[in-house]
Amino acid sequence: MTLSTPAATSANTPGGTLPATPDYDAWPVEVAIHNVSHTPHQVEVRWEDGRVSQYHSIWLRENAADDSTVNPATRERILDLSRLGAWPTVSEARLDDAGALEIVFAPEQCRLRFHPGWLRAHDYTHLAELDAPLPPATLWKGSERDAPTTLDARDWLDTDDDPLAPDACLESALEAVIGEGLVRLRNLPTEPGSLDAIARRIGPPRATNFGTLFDVRAKPDPDSNAYTSIALPPHVDLPTREYQPGLQLLHCLENDTVGGEAVMMDGFAVAEALRERHPEHFATLTRVRWCYANTARTTDHVWYAPMIKLDDDGNFDEVRIADFLRGPLMPPFEDVEPAYAALMALQRLLREPEFALRFTYTPGDLVIFDNRRLLHARDAFDVGQGGRRWLQGCYLERDEARSRLRMLRRAHRKQRVEVLGQG
Ligand SMILES: [Fe+2]
Repeated sequence: MTLSTPAATSANTPGGTLPATPDYDAWPVEVAIHNVSHTPHQVEVRWEDGRVSQYHSIWLRENAADDSTVNPATRERILDLSRLGAWPTVSEARLDDAGALEIVFAPEQCRLRFHPGWLRAHDYTHLAELDAPLPPATLWKGSERDAPTTLDARDWLDTDDDPLAPDACLESALEAVIGEGLVRLRNLPTEPGSLDAIARRIGPPRATNFGTLFDVRAKPDPDSNAYTSIALPPHVDLPTREYQPGLQLLHCLENDTVGGEAVMMDGFAVAEALRERHPEHFATLTRVRWCYANTARTTDHVWYAPMIKLDDDGNFDEVRIADFLRGPLMPPFEDVEPAYAALMALQRLLREPEFALRFTYTPGDLVIFDNRRLLHARDAFDVGQGGRRWLQGCYLERDEARSRLRMLRRAHRKQRVEVLGQG
C-alpha cells in the first residue's frame, strides 16, 4: 500500500507542524483534540473541553487541503469526488504528534491531515455553538434611539492598503451596517468626488444609469424626484432592478438649507409590525408581485417582485417599498383588492412616527445604509434663500461589506495565531 502525504504545511507547534487549511484564513487552536475514533463513514473527535464532534468521511475527503484536492496557487478545489471510484471511507484515523487529525482514506489509500483549529471552526455537529460569522440583523425603531450609530471617521482615508491591517473604525462601521442596516460617519472630507475613495475602502461601487457617483441636489430637468427639492416618501432605491443595490452611501458636501431633514426607518421592523398586527396583509405582501418601473426618457427599467421577501430560513431578506417607483399592478384578477388592502395597511404603518429616525446632515457626514432593508425619506427643503444642499451618493453590494468584515475578522484570527505561537 502506498500512502501519499500532503505537501503544503502552514503552522508549527511544539510537537510538529500543523497542516495547511483549504483557504487563506487563520484558525487558532483554542481547544486541542483529545482523541479520535472512527467508523468507515464517520470520524469522532473528542476535544479537550469535552465536546464531541462528528465528521462524515465524504465531507472530510472533500475538504482536505492537500494538492490533489485544492490548487495550492488559488486555494480553489480541484477534486471531483465522483472520480474517486468509490465512496471515500476511513481506514485509519489518529491524532498525530502536531495535534492534527490524520486519516487514511480508502479506496485511494491516501493519508491526509486536518488542522484542528479549522475543524473546530467548521464543526457542523454544533452549529448553534459556532461563532457567528457576521452580526445578525437587529430590528429597531427610530423612537428608541437619538441618532444613528455614529463614528468619527477622520482617519478613514489615512489607512493601510493591506486588507489584513486592523481598522477599528471600518470594522465598527461594517458591524453596524450589517447588524442595524445603518451607520453615520462624521468628519470626512468634503471634496466633490471623494466618495469614490471612501466607498472603495469597503469595495467597488456599482454603477447604474444614474452614474457611479450621483449628485442629490435640485437640478433643472430632473430625471428623478430625488433631484428636486420636494419631500420624498420612505423608499428604497432602484427596486426597479432584478437585484436592487445592497448598500447606499450618501455623503454630505454642503447643507445650509432650511428643512430637508433626513428620515430613516428600518423596513424590517415595519414589516415585522405588519406581520404581528395584520398577518393576512403580511402574507399578501410576501406573495403578490408588484411592478416597479423607472421609465425615464432614455432608459426603461421594470421589474416585478413581492414587496417583502423572506430568506430560506424565514428571516427578512429585503423590502421593495417605493410608491413613486411602482408601475401598474398586473396581478391575477382576484389578488387586486387584497393587494391594495395590504399596501394601504403598510402605508399607514410607514406614517407612524415611532419607526422614523430623523437627523440633519452636516458637511462631512456620510451615511451607509442597507438599501434592501432601510427606507430613506426626506422633508422638502427650501433653496429660495440662497441655501445649498448637495449630497453625493453611490451604491455597493452587501457582498462587499460582508467580505470586508470577514477580512477584518480574519486579521484578528491571524493575530491570535501569532500570539499562540501557532504561525
Ligand atoms: Fe433615494
